[in-house]
Amino acid sequence: MNKTAKFIFNGKTYELPVVMGSEGEMAVDISNLRKETRFITFDPGYANTGSCQSSITFMDGENGILRYRGIPIEQLAEHSTFVETAYLLINGELPTEKELNNFSVMLNDHSLVHEDMHLFFENFPRRAHPMGILSSMVNALRAFYPEIPERTDEEEINITFTRLLSKIRTMAAMSHKMSLGHKVIYPRYALHYCANFLNMMFDSPVRPYTIDDDLVKALEVFWILHADHEQNCSTAAVRLVGSARVNLYAAISAGIAALWGPLHGGANQAVVEMLQQIHNNGGDPAPFIARAKDRNDPFRLMGFGHSIYKTYDPRARIMEKTCHKILKKLNRHDPLLDIARQLEEFALKDSYFKDHDLYPNVDFYSGIVLRAIGIPLNMFTVMFAIGRLPGWISQWKESIDDPKWKLHRPRQIYIGRKKRDYVPINDR
Ligand code: SDX
Repeated sequence: MNKTAKFIFNGKTYELPVVMGSEGEMAVDISNLRKETRFITFDPGYANTGSCQSSITFMDGENGILRYRGIPIEQLAEHSTFVETAYLLINGELPTEKELNNFSVMLNDHSLVHEDMHLFFENFPRRAHPMGILSSMVNALRAFYPEIPERTDEEEINITFTRLLSKIRTMAAMSHKMSLGHKVIYPRYALHYCANFLNMMFDSPVRPYTIDDDLVKALEVFWILHADHEQNCSTAAVRLVGSARVNLYAAISAGIAALWGPLHGGANQAVVEMLQQIHNNGGDPAPFIARAKDRNDPFRLMGFGHSIYKTYDPRARIMEKTCHKILKKLNRHDPLLDIARQLEEFALKDSYFKDHDLYPNVDFYSGIVLRAIGIPLNMFTVMFAIGRLPGWISQWKESIDDPKWKLHRPRQIYIGRKKRDYVPINDR
């Protein structure tokens, strides 16, 4: 295979190095393009631009493949736990039993939130969106906890990662309880990560919460499926903000803000709102399909389509199976699942969706799993953020350890007014 690519312009030939990934992906290295040719590249939304080389997550959008550190998502969803998967993403290898126990103990040791932070929660309006609260509170953690020291102190760095992984879960549950005006439930040492979260969300002095292992497993799978997804919008935000050498909390807070958008993590809430609307309108998806196909209508079929997957999102398949398992266990029927299945059937037969390679993505069924667990609608994207945190941390760590690290500063093509003089206000 050629080691360079030729760029010919105005009779001049420029040779650019070709970079190949471990799974055969190829890229033209344009690091010196402007210096050698005065050209920059133009790629709105960066759909054709690699921002980094990464060893964390591999996605094959054409074949619907997703692997964390080389392990297929299907195997992790079946055999792993969220905490074990978080360790894998951040450290690069599955933990030994001893490493996993130490990690679990550290997660519990760091699960409390500084009592002074309770005052912050009490002063948010009750109806404040929990994603706005989460982004603010993660940023506020820097005021209470030290910044990561120089890259040498591995132990302190791991404590910072573990602190954030543990406290984000506690803060999410706190924001839910505070929004109801209910007593905050503290983490319990005896409970593992997912069960502890459910207990903090749903336990109450007047109605003790009973841990259901099937609901815990569904939550494990939900968070494993969301744990990383290479250079998606919110991860790119974490890397970009992190490239200015801000502290980890500020970079993660930026990732939460990006995830909030309905075209990104906010889609899981938007899917259920759309399914609910179809249900309320009698259950016929046809009008929504028609709107999604109408180029003059900005409406998009929520939970459908993906920037990378041009086939079924492998996570959506696992999420749909989890829907069936959890509803069967609860002996519950959710009409929104029927509507989702009908919508999928409708869309996958329609030439517009086939021609545009539009298939269900991770958000299409995830909301139905969250409804079955009892998570309120306005917390859906918060659930995505908790799941994605190990991915953001691992990507941030990889970026600041990267010997090729640079401050992210894209260029532009200027299309504005040419040079002109200032006009005094009396002459305008
Ligand atoms: C996530 O990047 C990640 O990895 C994200 C994520 C992760 O784990 O981090 O996977 C999580 O964000 C999943 C996506 C959740 N968002 C939604 O479900 C919102 C609905 N989906 C769309 O907005 C859209 O599919 C995107 C934004 C997700 C992806 O869009 P593309 O493929 O990057 O490009 P595009 O928006 O330009 O769409 C290309 C064409 C357009 O039609 P034409 O103008 O070319 O005729 O496809 C059409 C679009 O109109 N299209 C849709 C559509 N999605 C794309 N038409 C109707 N409904 C849709 N959902």
